[in-house]
Amino acid sequence: MLKKEKTPLPSLKSLKIMQGGFSEKKERAEVLNHSLIVRRVATHLARELKAAGEDIDLRIVSEAALLHDVGKQKEGKKDVSHPKEGVRILKDAGFSKEIIEIVGIPHFPQKKEELDNWEKRIVFYADLRVGQNIVSLDDRLKDIAKRWIPEKKITQKEMDKAKEIAKDVEQEIFSKLDIEPDDILDLSMPRAERYLRAIAERNLEDRAIKFFKGFREK
Ligand SMILES: [Fe+2]
Repeated sequence: MLKKEKTPLPSLKSLKIMQGGFSEKKERAEVLNHSLIVRRVATHLARELKAAGEDIDLRIVSEAALLHDVGKQKEGKKDVSHPKEGVRILKDAGFSKEIIEIVGIPHFPQKKEELDNWEKRIVFYADLRVGQNIVSLDDRLKDIAKRWIPEKKITQKEMDKAKEIAKDVEQEIFSKLDIEPDDILDLSMPRAERYLRAIAERNLEDRAIKFFKGFREK
């Protein structure tokens, strides 16, 4: 087992994009909460996998996990899928190709080849372990199916295929680790996330800048 690397913070630019673009306060709070927990799960898994010898860029995971739902800012608009909208927003803001590709993954990919690196698989999987809290993959998929199938956002067949891919990714991740999927259910909030939340909620820009300069997450 290699020494665990520190988790890089996302950039202040990402946090501001996440915080700034939502017109509705409740939606912003929910998307931010979800995204920060997805980041918590994704960076945890990424560090563990990296310590187990896998080649993973933690900075990309940290940033892309926070940004993965950025396109929800425009989802109200008809015919706009949030991954596509996310890609547009991040291209305009000059983000790297690696991050844009992760944000552009469809919520329910139909081919595992779309998840062709660890960073993509980790963020995709973490998103399917988090609603407003960390849950099991089955609970999350059931919850999504209950809302999305009646709304015709996805068919049962597409859902089944996506589920098969998600289970496969879960198996791939945990086959490399000494922990089980249930062991991340009570992953506690890291100190950095507490700061990120405070900055996002209270718009503490001057403190944020100091924080981003000086903070090193464990
Ligand atoms: Fe998400």
